Amino acid sequence: MEMIRKEAAAFIKEKVNVEPTVGLILGSGLGVLADEIQNPVVISYKDIPHFPESTVSGHKGQLVIGKLEGRQVIAMQGRFHYYEGYDMKQVTFPVRVMKELGVETLFVTNAAGGINEGFNAGDLMVITDHINNLGDNPLVGSNDDELGPRFPDMSEAYDRSLIEHAMKSADRLSLNVQKGVYIGNKGPAYETGAEVRMLRTWGGDAVGMSTVPEVTVANHAGIRVLGISCISNMAAGILDQPLTHDEVIETTAQVREDFLSFVKDMLKTLPA
Ligand code: HPA
Repeated sequence: MEMIRKEAAAFIKEKVNVEPTVGLILGSGLGVLADEIQNPVVISYKDIPHFPESTVSGHKGQLVIGKLEGRQVIAMQGRFHYYEGYDMKQVTFPVRVMKELGVETLFVTNAAGGINEGFNAGDLMVITDHINNLGDNPLVGSNDDELGPRFPDMSEAYDRSLIEHAMKSADRLSLNVQKGVYIGNKGPAYETGAEVRMLRTWGGDAVGMSTVPEVTVANHAGIRVLGISCISNMAAGILDQPLTHDEVIETTAQVREDFLSFVKDMLKTLPA
């Protein structure tokens, strides 16, 4: 693990001459943010030693490194999902590599189904906390104390000051941004209506199939996290209509401008 992490990081370091401090993981339909990065160095996942390859449509499968709103960033245009068959270590490998490259702050984004009936498709939600319903954890197995503690604290998995920072950005831009708890499910099937009702009693506001593994590893590694969900659809059983991946991609495309200005404003005003 140590060797392969260092080899992947060394390969990337050779191609860029600045140290990225902010990592961006861009979810389904949200990869457009990386197109705004200036003087980008683009590295395809398949060229990076030990990197898995992305398989979902709507995900590109490359790293984009450069400057965005004055910050040195490294963006993942497309991520790895547990449901694709990768194990948890593979899903979170890019976060380990980011840490190795100097990343201190991670913005994690995703498309998610709205569980909270006060939400609407097209809303943006700042993640305040999560529930791991994946039935697995990326930290299972022997612990490398160099990377982080055996039993990492998750009581502030999403950095409180970053949540405040995000809500200030939303105010500045007059965006009506929601706050809530993200539940990470294994997928790839969407939930049943009964499952969505159960998840609501658990305290979930949105449900998706990603984010929880990466955020767990980021916390282990001492990287502070900001999470943003794009509510691409209301979760199953709430509206009388079936769920499709096309709807997810369509909605994320519709909120593209709000999403872009939101993340860019947060980057621009992020305390160093
Ligand atoms: N459920 C799970 N994952 C999702 C959803 C959903 O409704 N929408 C987008 N990703």
